[in-house]
Amino acid sequence: MANPKIEQLQRLREESQQGGGAERVRRQRERGRMTARERVELLLDKGTFREIDAFVEHRETNFGMDKKKYLGDSVITGWGTIDERLVYIFSQDFTVFGGSLSLVHARKVCKIMDMALKNGAPVIGINDSGGARIQEGVDSLGGYADIFLRNTLASGVVPQISAIMGPCAGGAVYSPALTDFIFMVKDTSHMFITGPDVVKTVTGEEVSFEQLGGAMTHNSKSGVAHMAANSEADCLYLIRELFSYLPSNNMEDAPFKASRDDALRTEAALDKLVPENPNKPYDIKEGIHHIVDDGIFFEIQEHYAQNIVVGFSRLGGHAVGIVANQPMVLAGVLDINASEKAARFVRFCDCFNIPLIVFEDVPGFLPGLDQEYGGIIRHGAKLLYAFCEATVPKLTVVTRKAYGGAYCVMNSKHIRADLNLAWPTAEIAVMGPEGAVNIIFRRELEEAEDPVARKAELVQEYRERFANPYTAARRGYVDDVIEPRETRPRLINALHMLQNKRDNNPPKKHGNMPL
Ligand code: HXC
Repeated sequence: MANPKIEQLQRLREESQQGGGAERVRRQRERGRMTARERVELLLDKGTFREIDAFVEHRETNFGMDKKKYLGDSVITGWGTIDERLVYIFSQDFTVFGGSLSLVHARKVCKIMDMALKNGAPVIGINDSGGARIQEGVDSLGGYADIFLRNTLASGVVPQISAIMGPCAGGAVYSPALTDFIFMVKDTSHMFITGPDVVKTVTGEEVSFEQLGGAMTHNSKSGVAHMAANSEADCLYLIRELFSYLPSNNMEDAPFKASRDDALRTEAALDKLVPENPNKPYDIKEGIHHIVDDGIFFEIQEHYAQNIVVGFSRLGGHAVGIVANQPMVLAGVLDINASEKAARFVRFCDCFNIPLIVFEDVPGFLPGLDQEYGGIIRHGAKLLYAFCEATVPKLTVVTRKAYGGAYCVMNSKHIRADLNLAWPTAEIAVMGPEGAVNIIFRRELEEAEDPVARKAELVQEYRERFANPYTAARRGYVDDVIEPRETRPRLINALHMLQNKRDNNPPKKHGNMPL
């Protein structure tokens, strides 16, 4: 015989699954977007999602809101697993009041964030929201602030990942901005403080949604986002991939993933990676692929500040964070954007016990008015600060140029790198031979009979004396000079040697990073 109480539960449960109703769900799909629930199902291991607060309703009565209620309101919350590891999740439902943030929506999100922090598991937020629930006024603003506080308190304790899968305006962008990684979907996701209409009113600029806050805008221009996916399914897949490199919290090590790739594998192609002509570029990503397990490199912010490359890989099964100057773009110079990009990545790895591997080929900081007016001194100092502060295992391989201040910044021995290796092609000096000769032999060159020939001679002499790894090696500033082909086994060996590394910074409330 049917049990009416169970039937009631089943009916309510069924109702809570409907979101804003069939018509709004149809419109959501029409725009190439999945529903909040479909996204959760696709992201998590099959059948592992456990929802809570499905019966929560908003309490607003103004504007006839008491007649418009949806079970669960505009967000779905709960937990599940990715590769069998616990993760807390919220997914905003655009079909209910445009996914806008009511007070109860905020409370649902805060509840799972509190649980994540207490239980040491990551939080993934899928954002698809018109921002503050206009009908709720200040209650909604307060709800945002409650979330911002939790984002900040959770920062560095559990990884926080944001997917932007629709319009995110106003308050809806600041919570993602406080998290560790922001994923966007090309064409269907947008982030901005104010939309195109407001921009036109305030500044007179006419701009499309895509130009103002599309995936490529934030992945290549603003640096706000870290990944641009081709579709929502692709985006969710990429989040799972990123997740595989991260520990669940700051007390854990990153998950170990055994690889068939031989830890002792040498790679002859690396011996030829750096061209004979020191001014010729080469692709450091090619080098990275030769060195890491199975050639797999999960690049972060691939489209932004391409003169520096950052991302995750594995070496001997251990997750590592890679920071590499890219000689292919602006000769690998450090500018404002590259410094900020790398500094944030270094700090993330340090928060979450992920060893850092640096491949260095940097001619220095980028000179110029734009850079100086933009504050390259302050922004460059961020990278310096991040490397100095980091206490995870830190390894450096100088492949070619390590000039000037950039030598110090890029994880030098002096700022607590654990093992600094150099290839025979390394040039560790205050500056490149041409620049150095121009300065220290200016008078001699002015007076020389044949200044061109004399300069060539002096450049050659400087190159032999200083543009090599041995001056630094003689002082112990690099620990060893190695054949490029040996890089993989040497790095894996170093990670083993450092597996029990303990290092601390002096006790303090927090440092005062040059923000
Ligand atoms: C309540 C909202 C809403 C909101 C959208 N809706 N935004 N309801 N509060 N903020 C509702 C709509 O009434 C509509 O309801 C449904 O969601 C879908 O909206 P549409 O406009 O039809 O969709 P679309 O054309 O896709 O446009 C989406 C949008 C637009 C770009 C997000 O709705 C929009 O501009 N919304 C307002 C954005 C905004 O200014 N938010 C406040 C930001 S200020 P029906 O019933 O028709 O389905 C803010 C302050 C926080 O967030 C600051 C903290 C620091």
